[in-house]
Amino acid sequence: MTAGGTAPEFRATGEADASAMARLHARCFAPGWDEQAMRALLTAPGALGRIAETEGDMIAFALLRRIIDEGEVVSMAVAPDWRRRGLGCRLLADALAAAATHGVCRVTLEVAADNAPAQALYRRLGFAAVGRRRAYYGGVDADVLALDLAGVKAAAPPCAPAADAAETDPRPPGPRPRW
Ligand SMILES: CC(C)(COP(=O)(O)OP(=O)(O)OC[C@H]1O[C@@H](n2cnc3c(N)ncnc32)[C@H](O)[C@@H]1OP(=O)(O)O)[C@@H](O)C(=O)NCCC(=O)NCCS
Repeated sequence: MTAGGTAPEFRATGEADASAMARLHARCFAPGWDEQAMRALLTAPGALGRIAETEGDMIAFALLRRIIDEGEVVSMAVAPDWRRRGLGCRLLADALAAAATHGVCRVTLEVAADNAPAQALYRRLGFAAVGRRRAYYGGVDADVLALDLAGVKAAAPPCAPAADAAETDPRPPGPRPRW
């Protein structure tokens, strides 16, 4: 479906999501990861994933993995029709909150130096550069970014509000989740 319908809902990933995640990954990256590779990531020890869905369609995912108290963002993607609506920011904030509840204190990731949307999203959530890997993505460098969750988990995520949700969500107002 296209953006603008029912408000996205977030939930944890499971092995059964491998196929839909691989399809979404292939729409967002070249080359994409196939279903088998995605299933291996989803079932690996420490896998922590969050998905956004609307009307049964997966429109975004954030996949992390945890090793004791360290986390890593393995991949994240938002369907092209749903970008620039704050969805990636809210979903990653939700995934970071889930990681914090599993005892993760610090999260790192690699992002292509020329991926301006992702660089801006991560920095908006408070990630800061801690290193650079030369030619990590073919001829493109990767920045290594890190975020200390202890410093941010008590604050509301700095994401654009879910405008669609405010217009279409029939649930009564209540406490908003914090990350
Ligand atoms: C990167 C990606 C996940 C962002 O998802 P999104 O839902 O569009 O991001 P949001 O709407 O939550 O944006 C949050 C903030 O990130 C920044 N941002 C996001 N997209 C941007 C863009 N195209 N240009 C500049 N800044 C951007 C902005 O600061 C934005 O806040 P604002 O809209 O209030 O200015 C999405 O573009 C995507 O899936 N890209 C392809 C896959 C990818 O690169 N994944 C990351 C790999 S490391």
